[in-house]
Amino acid sequence: SCRPSIYYRPINPNDLDRLERIHRDIFPIKYESEFFQSVVNGVGIVSWAAVDRSRPDGYSDELIGFVTAKFVLAKESEIDDLIGYDSSQGEETLVYILTLGVVETYRNHGIAMSLISGVIRYASGLSLCRGVYLHVIAYNNPAIRLYNRLMFRCVRRLNGFYLIKRQHFDAFLFVYFFNGS
Ligand code: ACO
Repeated sequence: SCRPSIYYRPINPNDLDRLERIHRDIFPIKYESEFFQSVVNGVGIVSWAAVDRSRPDGYSDELIGFVTAKFVLAKESEIDDLIGYDSSQGEETLVYILTLGVVETYRNHGIAMSLISGVIRYASGLSLCRGVYLHVIAYNNPAIRLYNRLMFRCVRRLNGFYLIKRQHFDAFLFVYFFNGS
């Protein structure tokens, strides 16, 4: 088969079924259909898709990876205590990564790395944005290695943050602060 040729583009309404399907396949948590609607319509959510242009017709634009995120007001976020405020400029924001995923056959090619780097590049270009943060379940070593490699800082361990099949799991809170935050 061909060498993958990975492109990144915004997520659009045509991605709806595939996006839902991948979330269902790779996350232990259930996301509501309202969430997917907001993602594909870009309502309060920013997102990027990875596709492999080298795949045959009909698949060359099919989602193989994605990242979804939303804006949060820094002072209303759970890391408001970690931000040094400069209120003269206006309302400071953070970008919160909601979901990140790459389908199994495309893992270990640096796609997640590119998706997260893209979020950082985008968010760091916004004047009032102070950083990017996310939660990750404590046993997810591949994801934790990725965030460490990208220079995110683990600032908290949240006891029993996730409830999956009646079992509680801890989460780590990772933050990537922009200049001086
Ligand atoms: N050649 C060889 N190895 C490479 C290459 C390359 N060209 N590029 C990257 N790698 C290595 C990396 O160094 C890394 O190595 P490591 O395992 O030693 O840390 C490994 O491949 C993975 O890095 P990426 O390729 O950037 O990541 P990938 O695209 O495989 O996606 C992810 C990682 C998203 C965690 C994936 O495993 C996944 O979808 N898991 C299930 C869902 C999930 O856990 N999502 C994150 C939850 S947290 C949240 O959503 C906020």
